[in-house]
Amino acid sequence: MKFKHPLMHNNFTNQDFVKVRELLKKKNIILTQSSQVEKFEKSWSKWLGVKYSTFVNSGSSANFITISILKILNKNPSRNEIIVPTLTWVSDLNSVIMNGFKPVFVDINLSNLSMDINQVLKKINKKTLAVFITHAQGFNGLNDNLLNQLKKKKIHLIEDVCESYGAKFKKKKLGNFGLISNFSFYYAHHMTTIEGGMICTNDKKIYEISKMLRSHGMVRESKNKILESTMITKYKNLSQKFIFLYPTLNFRNNEIGATIGLSQLKNLDKNNHKRINNFLFFLKKIDSKKYFTEFDLDGSCNYAFPIILKTKNLKKRDKFEKYLQKNNIEFRRGNAGGGNQLRQPYIKKFIKIKNFSKFKNVEHVHFFGYYIGNYPDLPKEKITKITNILNSISF
Ligand SMILES: Cc1ncc(COP(=O)(O)O)c(C=O)c1O
Repeated sequence: MKFKHPLMHNNFTNQDFVKVRELLKKKNIILTQSSQVEKFEKSWSKWLGVKYSTFVNSGSSANFITISILKILNKNPSRNEIIVPTLTWVSDLNSVIMNGFKPVFVDINLSNLSMDINQVLKKINKKTLAVFITHAQGFNGLNDNLLNQLKKKKIHLIEDVCESYGAKFKKKKLGNFGLISNFSFYYAHHMTTIEGGMICTNDKKIYEISKMLRSHGMVRESKNKILESTMITKYKNLSQKFIFLYPTLNFRNNEIGATIGLSQLKNLDKNNHKRINNFLFFLKKIDSKKYFTEFDLDGSCNYAFPIILKTKNLKKRDKFEKYLQKNNIEFRRGNAGGGNQLRQPYIKKFIKIKNFSKFKNVEHVHFFGYYIGNYPDLPKEKITKITNILNSISF
């Protein structure tokens, strides 16, 4: 059979489909958000180690609702800056912009593809409301200095863990350190619900707001009886079941997604363990003269193999891409989210940075960084074959 290494691999198991069939056979079934969703949220909270989780229809929706919550809770409008990485997914930044905040950009480290914490600390000022960290491609982006400084300065930490669930800082799962954390269950990630996302927190009020924001801003969605009766008394002329408190849309998921999520969650730790071992094996095999290998692996859990070329020569880079294409290795350039977000057209209206030399690491990743697939059932022989191909390219 012809060798090929696609970016994604079928993430579903037969058991997932058995569970969906069982659901569909039930009498009087409800398929919109209902008991399965609640069950999945409880199981996810238990797996992560947080009190509350809200299941939504994507990781992007989780991002958007999270930053909307910051807006709702922010009592000081002059605190309108959110520090963000230059390497992240587009929805992290759109959530910031669409909620009227100013994104303040910092470069990344090559060792974990996450924010350069020294730059974060330098950018903090009295307008800073939050730091929105992305734990990119399975690496932990936190350190003690960041956590201590944010606590001291009373600045919120928001964690985007969409690409890194199962990864840990000091043996504790990422997603436990921020005021709110976000996850994505898109097909290509550590586990899937087809499409889906999760908003996690230990704060009851935030949890209740997240449930309202998920569903038209409706007060009854909070399931807080005191809030509900207060609003009913306050808004006597409104239909009691239709009090819309916040402007938002419908970001709900459904019972099929939750059923798949419950089934997938059972295999998550086992699969993550395999992915970690795959990545270690991959790193041991690739040529460290050609590729960057000094990643910070402590607690990491990668669903992809990041490949960062050491060359800074675009012709050699193009040759590398052609070679991968010829060998049927599917790749994405720019690591998480296509590289330097400051170069994307959507951001230009909001941020006028043209000199990218201050962001030298993300610039390198933008032009010379890649990822390829790392799935739990990837055999060692195949990883060896991939690394042989990579190592045989002459730069
Ligand atoms: C870091 C990060 N945040 C958010 C998202 C958005 O997740 P979704 O695709 O589920 O909307 C992604 C998607 O890949 C991501 O990588």
